[in-house]
Amino acid sequence: TSSKSLEGKTVLITAGPTYEAIDPVRFIGNHSSGKMGYSLAEEASKRGARVILISGPSSQKIEDKNIDLHKVTSAKEMLEKVFEFYHLVDIGIASAAVADYAPKEVAQEKIKKNDSTLTIELIKNPDILKTMGEKKSHQLLVGFALETHNEDENAKAKLEKKNLDMIVLNSLRDHGAGFKNDTNKIKIFTKTTEKEFDLKSKDEVAKDILNFIEEQFLK
Ligand code: C5P
Repeated sequence: TSSKSLEGKTVLITAGPTYEAIDPVRFIGNHSSGKMGYSLAEEASKRGARVILISGPSSQKIEDKNIDLHKVTSAKEMLEKVFEFYHLVDIGIASAAVADYAPKEVAQEKIKKNDSTLTIELIKNPDILKTMGEKKSHQLLVGFALETHNEDENAKAKLEKKNLDMIVLNSLRDHGAGFKNDTNKIKIFTKTTEKEFDLKSKDEVAKDILNFIEEQFLK
């Protein structure tokens, strides 16, 4: 790949966890660091793409001033931000670990610890990537799948169900893979091909993912 291999392309990346408010001081979240998405953003920008990074709460920092970073908190906010830009997007990469459920009602005041049990009713969050798949016209769509069993089958099912062009699988069974580590071990599936990669730093994995996209879809 040449150094400006993504010149002229607009790449939208979702990254990090989402936080779903329970009350003014508490939330439901997950351990996603956002590293994979931020590495993808830096690498795509180095290759000349216009990068729109939509990130949930993450302590990752962006070095590249050209990257258009939008911080959001909840899945609903992430969805809204994605669709502000979606019509401009050539390549959409969903690496965010979006919370699947959110509290049905957000308490206006801090919930007091009175009773021995507390029940919080949850409702399903929007599936951002699935919605992108439904509204797809010219966009190339890439999803992630973090699986613990029947990994290949589950990843391929998501590729179909969410109308994706490509899905990146990480298995929690692989030591050093997944969202809390600096390294990742991936396997990529398209409708017609699959490729397995070695354990590497997330910066190196970002290069592999973008190389694969360029080879498969941009030649
Ligand atoms: O269905 P599952 O959560 O395993 O799918 C993972 C893929 O879907 C990831 O690319 C993730 O970013 C995306 N996703 C999303 N919105 C959700 C749930 C998942 O964009 N609410």
